[in-house]
Amino acid sequence: MKVLVVGGGGREHAICWKLAQSPKVTQLYCAPGNAGIAQVATCVDVKATDVDGMVAWAKEHAMDFVMVAPDDPLALGMVDALEAAGIPAFGPRANAAIVEASKAFSKELMKKYHIPTAKYQTFTQLDQALAYIEAEGAPIVVKADGLALGKGVVVAATVDEAKQAAREMMEGHKFGDSGNTVVIEECMTGPEVTVLAFTDGKTVVPMPASQDHKRAYDGNQGPNTGGMGAISPPPQYTPAIAKQCMEQIFQPTVDALRAEGRPFQGVLYFGLMLTPQGPKVVEYNARFGDPECQVVLSLLDSDLMDILQACVNGTLDQLPIRWKNEAGCILVLASGGYPLDYQKGYPISGLEEAGKTATVFHAGTKLGPDGQYLTNGGRVLGVTATAPDLEGAIAKAYDAARHISFQDMHFRRDIGHAF
Ligand code: AMP
Ligand code: GLY
Repeated sequence: MKVLVVGGGGREHAICWKLAQSPKVTQLYCAPGNAGIAQVATCVDVKATDVDGMVAWAKEHAMDFVMVAPDDPLALGMVDALEAAGIPAFGPRANAAIVEASKAFSKELMKKYHIPTAKYQTFTQLDQALAYIEAEGAPIVVKADGLALGKGVVVAATVDEAKQAAREMMEGHKFGDSGNTVVIEECMTGPEVTVLAFTDGKTVVPMPASQDHKRAYDGNQGPNTGGMGAISPPPQYTPAIAKQCMEQIFQPTVDALRAEGRPFQGVLYFGLMLTPQGPKVVEYNARFGDPECQVVLSLLDSDLMDILQACVNGTLDQLPIRWKNEAGCILVLASGGYPLDYQKGYPISGLEEAGKTATVFHAGTKLGPDGQYLTNGGRVLGVTATAPDLEGAIAKAYDAARHISFQDMHFRRDIGHAF
């Protein structure tokens, strides 16, 4: 099969790395890809958000299958467009990807189908939002409705802070049109876990749970990032909680979307908070998380291509999926200054040595003129290790990362020990 993966970060490197191991995949392409992905796939110079360009390229080069990984092209309807062109594509159509693209939509869905989540209200009028904040008191959470690169959420400790956030979103248009509607919700407490699940729209198969570390600095301090590291499985996610999530959250969500005429085919991302009242949904995403994807796919024993096809064909109930009975850890090596200002173009050393005991996924790298890898983004590399137990996997990832260096390299020292 000729397979195209859309995207170009660490997540897509892991997807390509895993697909390259499938005997079914004879030719693998990635658009736009990156320098690490180029080790396992042919990179194609088409932007991930260029729906027309992507469909045209896939048609011209006779792709048998396309895997759309990032949220933007999914929300833009890339899967719909590929299907219309007769190309099987993995990922939700735009009408189902809306679970990520609109928080107001997903909160409404959860309310209608009694899926546990924080109590909330949606507002389009600033004065009403301010009155609600005043009445509810703090702590309280203010969220821009649309996609805001993970930055549209303010967990406010005081009423004034919450009001200011609402003003900035609704009046100041801090996130453009994404903030025209805001969701204001109850502040939940408890450890956060991610569960990624394959689904064909009917059957839902949860992958091993994982736990992202979103803040830039140790002790969960500093600004939010795309994710500085992840472990799988998190010890807090017990089999009893997993069962409860399956019955009260995962299957009901997939059933709800189908009942609404929006069957979801792809990876559904459940951001969960394990509150004293039980697990509740913090957010849905319509795709693999990054860096959760890298660590979870490292634990997958089965052929990923088989799973992607079963999701598209609606036959997931017939496919046994095997996981390694191990734990994993990914450590993100970032450019100094990320997620704010940072420099690019620094040479990276030690990749080969680190690769002897860990898998190093490239998130933001490019190849320099002399064949050396250079930094080319905020998140640069993801050092990923597996071991029979979690402490072993964490130690192995840190040990491998010791070999790697580039100017101003920054990483957290407490991945796996921060919660
Ligand atoms: P989201 O983009 O909705 O995932 O929110 C980003 C982060 O904000 C989450 O990972 C949580 O840490 C935090 N958060 C969001 N909603 C709530 C809530 N209702 N209560 C407490 N923390 C929240
Ligand atoms: N790591 C969080 C996300 O991909 O949204």
